Amino acid sequence: MEFEFWDNCWQRESQPFHLNEAHTFLVRYVQQYFSTDQKVFVPLSGKSLDLPFLAELGYYPVGVEFNPKAVNRFIEENQLEFSSEVSNAANGHELVRYHNHTMEVWLADFFDITSEQIGKFRQVYDRAAFIALPEAMRRDYAKHLKSMLAKDATLLLVTMDYVPDEMSGPPFHITLDEIKQQFPEGWVEELCRCSLLDTHPRWKELELSRLDEVLYKITF
Ligand SMILES: C[S@@+](CC[C@H](N)C(=O)[O-])C[C@H]1O[C@@H](n2cnc3c(N)ncnc32)[C@H](O)[C@@H]1O
Repeated sequence: MEFEFWDNCWQRESQPFHLNEAHTFLVRYVQQYFSTDQKVFVPLSGKSLDLPFLAELGYYPVGVEFNPKAVNRFIEENQLEFSSEVSNAANGHELVRYHNHTMEVWLADFFDITSEQIGKFRQVYDRAAFIALPEAMRRDYAKHLKSMLAKDATLLLVTMDYVPDEMSGPPFHITLDEIKQQFPEGWVEELCRCSLLDTHPRWKELELSRLDEVLYKITF
């Protein structure tokens, strides 16, 4: 999924993946598995309200999003006051770090940014990031994400489970086997699963026989 694909999406007034509140899995599980003394990495963060939710609880979320429309809307809609710094990735691409005392958002391509710039994380929350990417990109994503993990890291990963013949992604269908294959160093546990079929007219229109959102905890 290239920049243009997501830019088309951000040109529209609303985005099907955006939620108007923090994700229920995050609300339910964050305090059990994440501690406030460590930052929480939120790759491919869009304008997700999970960031302000984490910040309000005293976590320090660090988002990365490459679409300026998404980042600008995130800042405006949440009335955030940020300082900003501009630097360059090794390939010359620009990285803009917006930050205040409660959170940080990088306007940058996830694949351009390294742990040298952003640090290493013991806590990662991935909702609609891994599953937003086609298979070949998921391999690169997993590899790159692992290069940003500190020792003993925990990844909370939200995926979608549906009959693959009934819908083409994104969101892409991810199996437990694939997660184990992409994160062989991690211990994978399914924490929670709930059906989304009744949550949005889009899913009804597609006449899916099943659509579950699944939360995995991967410990490294
Ligand atoms: C499906 S959305 C999910 C957004 C957010 N996690 C949420 O739950 O609302 C995926 C987001 O990733 C962004 N994105 C895609 N590829 C990216 C990349 N290589 N680097 C940074 N952001 C990227 C897109 O612009 C889009 O906002």
